[in-house]
Amino acid sequence: TEFITVSDLADLMGVQANDVITTCMDLGKMVSINQRLDASTMELVAEEYGYEIEFVDADEGIEEIELEEDDPEDLEPRAPIITVMGHVDHGKTSLLDYIRKSQVAEGEAGGITQHVGAYEVETDDGRPITFLDTPGHEAFTAMRSRGAQATDIVILVVAADDAVMPQTIEAINHAKAAGVSIIVAINKMDKPGAKPDKIKQQLAEHDVIIEEYGGENQCAEVSAKTGEGIPDLLEKVLIESDLMELQANPDRKADGVVLEARVDKGKGTVANILVQNGTLKVGDSFVAGPCFGRVRAMENELGNRLEEAGPSEPLQLTGFNDIPKAGDKLVVLEDEQKAKDIASQRQQIRREQELRQSSHVSLDDLSRRL
Ligand code: GTP
Ligand code: MG
Repeated sequence: TEFITVSDLADLMGVQANDVITTCMDLGKMVSINQRLDASTMELVAEEYGYEIEFVDADEGIEEIELEEDDPEDLEPRAPIITVMGHVDHGKTSLLDYIRKSQVAEGEAGGITQHVGAYEVETDDGRPITFLDTPGHEAFTAMRSRGAQATDIVILVVAADDAVMPQTIEAINHAKAAGVSIIVAINKMDKPGAKPDKIKQQLAEHDVIIEEYGGENQCAEVSAKTGEGIPDLLEKVLIESDLMELQANPDRKADGVVLEARVDKGKGTVANILVQNGTLKVGDSFVAGPCFGRVRAMENELGNRLEEAGPSEPLQLTGFNDIPKAGDKLVVLEDEQKAKDIASQRQQIRREQELRQSSHVSLDDLSRRL
């Protein structure tokens, strides 16, 4: 579900954006005009103005392309996809930085992650792991939800000197909704105020019960600053993923998921893609939601050109006709015409949905309770 900004919500209700900002403040939330609101805030604000919000799924009616089942003989092991989630500032990006020996966190605006980063890492013994970093800020619910859906395992990061916080709980809920297992990383163990036992107890109250307490969730106490406990965490991740016997068929046309997309001045639409099955090749024709295209070029996160990308590989792709939505499924088809046909059918369905959505607003107008 994609949520709208303060200014869009104000427009829909026919009120001033500043009034919505004030209302949010009264509800204890500081927001800016272009900020996207989460579902519960939107509902509360709308109620203040006498509206009821109905969420309409923009993809309703869009049929998924049926993918052929793989012959078990064609399956090969693939890298686990691990999504790092948790409350803002609890150290998700720093943890990945330590693992990748890089410094993404330092370069971020305001120290806050605002997108889903995807990275391929090799453990010391040469085993590949794909990591997805997600934002912890409350505004990015939809990204967390998608992160949880594209993953095999969630690493739930909780700062040992803080507590289980709203987005910790949200992350737990996303992981549970997606049926994904959770490994807990209690971070910032180097800090004097670290209280891992308190965190473990609080997690238990939210049904994340670590092994030490008789539950099923593995837990590692780590520091993204000193590196303490990180080998232990990685080992636990590999043990858990080995149990899952993750497999894919590299010898078929690829399918995958759009993690995010943006427009680059020189390159046009650039999308971060995670290949989930098959091998994606330069020149392949594909659909992704209501968009289509041909793979013009692919790069890994280091900016190196790729001719092809197999299962669990994250990459940047150019060659879209339009900007896909994060969460759109990308499927390679045998020819470009077919991709175009499916995309235009889907565009038609989305347009109809949008029309329905805008007529909804006028219907809601009539049922305004004030
Ligand atoms: P969002 O992406 O905005 O949700 O934040 P994040 O969870 O990625 O946190 P980030 O890695 O940006 O770290 C937040 C702050 O905590 C930074 O100042 C880090 O340097 C600091 N930090 C992260 N991990 C540790 C740690 O293990 N020990 C100490 N002392 N500081 C840490
Ligand atoms: Mg971050």
